[in-house]
Amino acid sequence: MYEMKEEYLIGIEQIDKEHEKLFEIAEKVYQLLQDKFIPDKYDNIRQVLIELREYTIMHFEHEEEYMKSIQYKRMFTQKVEHDAFRKKIEDLEFEKLDEKQEEMIKEILEFLTNWLVHHILETDKLIGQ
Ligand SMILES: [Fe+2]
Repeated sequence: MYEMKEEYLIGIEQIDKEHEKLFEIAEKVYQLLQDKFIPDKYDNIRQVLIELREYTIMHFEHEEEYMKSIQYKRMFTQKVEHDAFRKKIEDLEFEKLDEKQEEMIKEILEFLTNWLVHHILETDKLIGQ
């Protein structure tokens, strides 16, 4: 469902690797959600969503460090987008997830991955140019 694609590559190895990892974590959440038999499913989902949130925040830091190191001229636009997204994911409440919230988990996942794809294609791609 969620995977790194050739078209998402921006040509900077570390950033590409981290983007790939983000898709892997998102896919892990999706697979858990589909799994009908796993015990403590919502504990697992909560954990992986938190992992996704933390990895995203760390990844933004790396990206910002990289942009600074090359004195990237569109850094400001990137920061604004990162800040807005950071705020959103920091506000997400994963504490009370249970089976009633399957829809909510799907929405969160879709929102996160859509944002990521758009951000990579429209904004991160420019860093590699
Ligand atoms: Fe970015």
